[in-house]
Parts: sequence; structure tokens; C-alpha cells
Amino acid sequence: MSNNTSPVSMEKLVSLCKRRGFIFQSSEIYGGIQGFWDYGPYGTALRKAIEQLWWSYTVEARSNVEGLDSTVICHPKVWKASGHLDKFGDMMTDCRECKSRHRVDQMEDPETCPNCESKDLTEPREFNLMMKTFVGPVFDEDHVAYLRAETCQPIFVDFHQVRIAARQKLPFGIAQIGKAFRNEINPRNFTFRSREFTQMEMEFFCFEEDSMTWYDYWKNERLNYYYDILGFTKEQLRTHDHDTLAHYAKAAVDIEFKFPFGWGELEGIHHRGTWDMSQHQEHSGENLEYFDQENKRKVIPTVVETSVGLDRTVLALLCNAYDEDMADTQKEGKAQEARVVFRFPAIVAPVQIAVLPLSKKLSTSAEKVCNDLRKYFRCEFDVTGSIGKRYRRQDEIGTPYCVTFDFDSLDDNAVTIRDRDTMEQVRISIDELRSYFDKKIIG
Ligand code: GAP
Repeated sequence: MSNNTSPVSMEKLVSLCKRRGFIFQSSEIYGGIQGFWDYGPYGTALRKAIEQLWWSYTVEARSNVEGLDSTVICHPKVWKASGHLDKFGDMMTDCRECKSRHRVDQMEDPETCPNCESKDLTEPREFNLMMKTFVGPVFDEDHVAYLRAETCQPIFVDFHQVRIAARQKLPFGIAQIGKAFRNEINPRNFTFRSREFTQMEMEFFCFEEDSMTWYDYWKNERLNYYYDILGFTKEQLRTHDHDTLAHYAKAAVDIEFKFPFGWGELEGIHHRGTWDMSQHQEHSGENLEYFDQENKRKVIPTVVETSVGLDRTVLALLCNAYDEDMADTQKEGKAQEARVVFRFPAIVAPVQIAVLPLSKKLSTSAEKVCNDLRKYFRCEFDVTGSIGKRYRRQDEIGTPYCVTFDFDSLDDNAVTIRDRDTMEQVRISIDELRSYFDKKIIG
């Protein structure tokens, strides 16, 4: 049911996302701001559903992962210790001719401007990606602070607080979902490379001798999540082991998704060794060791990280779900008709059930059905336009189930459910709707 046979172009996707209120440029009435995106009603619902899915899969379903919600701005020394202030940048070059700026690693020929083909380029130099601000009333160097470039650093800093509060022992993880900011030189490919984005990260603290077992465990867990829960296929995902590793790391792999513009990183699984914890111990002067009661030894925990961008997951789901087909509208009593459809898994669909009264006269009774379902599912009530038009509108936003309330419903207390993908229609008693959708949507 995926769109593999009819791959979506980015132009179509961007335009549909804007038209149906999924994602659009931030501050559009001022001409937009590059690398920043707003999510409209359907985009927000989709994004929140994915966020909740990741959270329940990673944190709520396990006894050995705890949650954290830290601030975006931390003590500036955090970023000194993590190395972001000294070394978190891309090599970039400016074209003296057309004044454009480029990331050297993204240029086909590092000697030629990709914009105007001039050879008159500046020497490549490092450009730090940290976003700067000031804290307090004085705007000088002593009051500089940074918006976090990744959500994991506060996890390392808060390790003991969380461990003690949750009475956890090694091995255990701490997870966080939150905004990260990077002053990307070339934000591009819609939301893929943004300047403000959300990360979902989990740092798993363990003993060094077990760390590769945990690394393999988390790699499998994350791949299963993409296959079994988000419904991606083996052809759409690939893993890419890093060719070069940081001196402290034992392994690192990217999970990549086949976007319309090519393979792109969705998630990184990183063995981070004891690097981050050692750095924060050294820079803060606080003891970040863990006392292993069983073996009567003190250790700096070794960390295995899973790090995924929420916005990239949303984008991958949008690309995967987009489809165009000939709707078998005979089942709706009409001739065949071309339609655009998002085949989202029901669990993340922005609207899971649309309730459609066949006539405005049935609105009051139909709306009661909708309001009852709303307590358990994401629902929309739509009364305007022909039933065919309403089905197409729901297909276009990826609603898996439409419930039609007709004149017979008043007598038999039953409604017709139409399935987005099979277009099959079934008649169900209103009293059984909740358990029917529990099975279909939650599973
Ligand atoms: N803590 C490790 C870390 O931040 P990363 O590979 O730089 O590693 C992890 O980022 C994930 O965050 C990426 O796999 C991607 O999904 C997301 N991400 C990174 N930069 C991004 C950007 N500019 N726009 C959107 N998502 C981004």
C-alpha cells in the first residue's frame, strides 16, 4: 500500500502540505524565514502522534528508560565541555562573484561556485552552527548563552539527578524530546535540514563491557520500530555504518530513508563511550562516576545513543504515505475517479475517523456519534459538500475511516464505515463502534 510505485515529487508534497495545512513556511506574510517551518492543524496532529508513539515505545513501555524535559538554554559551559563551541561546524566557502555561501562537503566541485560557476571562492573556513543569544539585561560577551544544538547534553548533565530520583541502576536510559537549533548554512529539502527542529533522543548508560551488546540491541529495536510500527519497507530503509569513528566511539550507524531527493539520514545510533560524561566531569568539577555495588568499583558510564529527528520522521511518513490512485468509487455509487491519498498508519493519522452525515438534517444525531468517538480517537465532523467530495477531502489528509450516518441510522442505530485503502464498506451498530475502532486503530 505504500507509494513505492508512484513516488511523490517534493514539489507535489510541499504544495499539498501547504494547501491542506500540514506544514508551511514560518512568518509567511513577511516572506518566510529560511530553515523555519510551521505545522498547521493536520501537521500538528501527525507530529504529536509520532512524538507520542516514540515516547510510549521508548519510555512508557520499558522499566529501564526514564524521561527528562530540560531547558533549551543551559549553562554555556555545557557547550564548551561537549565540544560544540570549539568544534561544531561545517567548512564553508563564499563566492566573491555572486556572494553566495556554500558548505564545502556539499559542493560537487569544491573549486567551483554551484550558483554561478565562478572559480573566485574564498578559502574554506569553519562556521560554527550554535545559535547565540544573551541572558539577562546586559548584551555583552559575559552574558552570551546558546540555544541547544542537541537534546542529549542536558541528559548527561542531569544523569545523577534522574538516576537518584528514579532509583535506577546501570544499565538504564534517559530519553528526551525537544527543540534543537543549528544555524545550518544551507537549509534545504523542505523540513529535512531546518534551523529549528525537534529531536527525540535516548542515552543508554551501561558498563563498558556490555556496551556493544546494548548497541546491537538498540539498533534492532529502532529498525523494528520503523518496520513494525511506522510501516516502512526494507526497500525504503538502509543502514550506513560510519567509515570513520570518533576516537572514543566503538561504533556508529545511520538509519537512512529513501526520500524523493535521495537517501537521507533519519536516525543515528552512536556508541559514545565515556566521552560526554568524562568531559562534563572535568569541566564541572562534579563527580559523575557511578558506584557499581555488585563489583565494588567506580565507573564512568558508557553511553549508547539513539537520536532521531521528529521533523525528518514526519517528512519520511509523508513521503511514504503519499499515493495517487483511481478510487473505486463504484463502491460509493459513482464512476472511477483519480484521487490523492495519504496512506498513514491509522495510529498516527491526523484524523483517524471522520463522521459524515448524509444530509444536514442528520447533523445533530451524527455529531453525537462523533463526539462520543472523540473521547478515544482523533475525529472530524464534516457536513459540507457531496459525500463523494467529503470522501476525497478525507483521503487527501489520510483519514483511514469515514463513518456515514444516513436516514436508516435513525431506525437501525447503525452506520456505514468506509475503509480508505480497500474502499470496502461495512454496516456496524453504533454501540459497537468503539470496540471496532479499538481493534482497527490501536490493534
Ligand atoms: N546527539 C547526536 C546528534 O545530534 P545528529 O546526527 O547531529 O546527532 C541526530 O542528529 C538527528 O537529528 C538526525 O539523524 C536527524 O534526524 C536530526 N537532525 C539533525 N540535524 C537536523 C536538521 N538541521 N534539521 C532537521 N533534523 C535534523
